[in-house]
Amino acid sequence: MLLVGRTVQTVVRRNLCRPFSASKNYLHERKGLVLGVFEDEGEEGRLQLTEAAAHFNQSVSGKLSELLQISGPKLKKGKSRIFYGIHKDFPCVAVVGLGKNDAGVCGAENWDTSKESIRQGMAAGCQLLQELELNSVEVDGCGDAQSAAEGATLGLFHFDQLKSKKKTKVSLQLHGSADAEGWEKGITYAEGQNLARLLMEAPANHMTPTAFANIIEEKLAPHAERVTINKRPQDWIKEQQMGAFLSVSKGSEEPPVFLELHYNGSPDSKEPPLLLVGKGITFDSGGISLKPSPSMDAMRADMGGAATVCASIVTAAALKLPVNIIGLAPLCENMPSGKATKPGDVVTAKNGKTIQVDNTDAEGRLILADALCYGHSFNPRAIVNVATLTGAMDVALGSAATGVFTNSNWLWEQLHKASVVTGDRVWRMPLFQHYTKQVTDSQLADLNNIGKYSRSGGACTAAAFLREFVTAPHWAHLDIAGVMSNKDEIPYLRKGMSGRPTRTLVEFAASLAHDG
Ligand code: BES
Ligand code: ZN
Ligand code: ZN
Repeated sequence: MLLVGRTVQTVVRRNLCRPFSASKNYLHERKGLVLGVFEDEGEEGRLQLTEAAAHFNQSVSGKLSELLQISGPKLKKGKSRIFYGIHKDFPCVAVVGLGKNDAGVCGAENWDTSKESIRQGMAAGCQLLQELELNSVEVDGCGDAQSAAEGATLGLFHFDQLKSKKKTKVSLQLHGSADAEGWEKGITYAEGQNLARLLMEAPANHMTPTAFANIIEEKLAPHAERVTINKRPQDWIKEQQMGAFLSVSKGSEEPPVFLELHYNGSPDSKEPPLLLVGKGITFDSGGISLKPSPSMDAMRADMGGAATVCASIVTAAALKLPVNIIGLAPLCENMPSGKATKPGDVVTAKNGKTIQVDNTDAEGRLILADALCYGHSFNPRAIVNVATLTGAMDVALGSAATGVFTNSNWLWEQLHKASVVTGDRVWRMPLFQHYTKQVTDSQLADLNNIGKYSRSGGACTAAAFLREFVTAPHWAHLDIAGVMSNKDEIPYLRKGMSGRPTRTLVEFAASLAHDG
């Protein structure tokens, strides 16, 4: 690292200096560069250039460090500055503050602060250059090319498929680092999350169950030799006696789909699979227990569980992870109609348990109940279901972390470890009998689909309900309602549906693949 103090560095390699010349070509190149600078521990006013930034500084005869000194106060973490015309290959150079160089894993925050700072910095720099309509950007690896690639790729995502005026498409390249492998891995992880964001953000009239299944099929097509896909239609769902799933889908004109993905990445085709199950409500109106209209549009993302699970499998396939994964996504709309389930109706799940549906808006647990019963038939090594299940989860943790309810300390450790690496955090929640009693006390059936004390502990009673459909020893339910969307809390995600926690699921699957 090159230390840049208040005294401007002497020029080291004059022959590398490529001064600005405003030729026509130069102005039309539209190429940019994002570089990082750390804050130097202790010494007032000193900045520490990353390796790539130091090298760049040399190539412009110390001009970068000089400009950093004269253009304003020391660059704080997350703050950026753009310099124009200092290098002939890069008309615009964004320099971003990365905070302290030695931050590392923070026990209190449950994440790696260095990785988060790099993600944040590279996202901010790339966004600035995208606003300037640059179509090609080179990105400083900052000593962690994977995090740099994640930040850049996540930061640039914007859902404008349905707008006439699009944001500039930016192609990204690694700058000044040999870690091409880390860079590519970061791009793949982030593209996975961006796929989930796209599926979640898309309006419900476009992202129907059928459309969702077709998009996933298309995304998995390049990996056909390791993947099989079944788009199970309504008749199959009936044959399977998935009465709980059908009770939700029957209020809608849109046909349900039960999407089943098999990714066979392990060299041992008989190795028990990791089973991922995602809630796939492509629109949740609440059904007859109709939701209030304000913010109802956000319920187009109520398939976030299915989106993150399927995007994780697409990513696992792209990474060729040596692990077997089965993905299940019950996909349907929850709508009110003359054919819709009514409060007080009793339905029978695949395992024969009867459920009194006292609130048709608690539909996620119904479709997951049948998917979980079906999933056990694959004898999985672990089951992880992911769902935008309860508003109560958002009340409990907000968007800081996904809530994890699990019967397995081992599974909790694995998920937690993965989330510290990705920065897309998880937090453990209780599965007490206390909550089970509140859903097994039903006037007409074995179970009630809402807790008997109404909203109290709503995320926990929902988890307790799901547990009634689980016999496997390693099961985790991830309630992602709180992390479904981003306003400005995660600085490297723009406002919109978040695609969280796709990268954590991928990292978790990768750790299973590598640690066995
Ligand atoms: N999809 C919602 C939960 C949700 C709310 C997700 C906000 C994301 C943001 C779910 O189907 C639902 O409506 N749950 C009810 C359950 C209640 C009726 C017991 C809820 O949370 O209010
Ligand atoms: Zn609902
Ligand atoms: Zn829902």
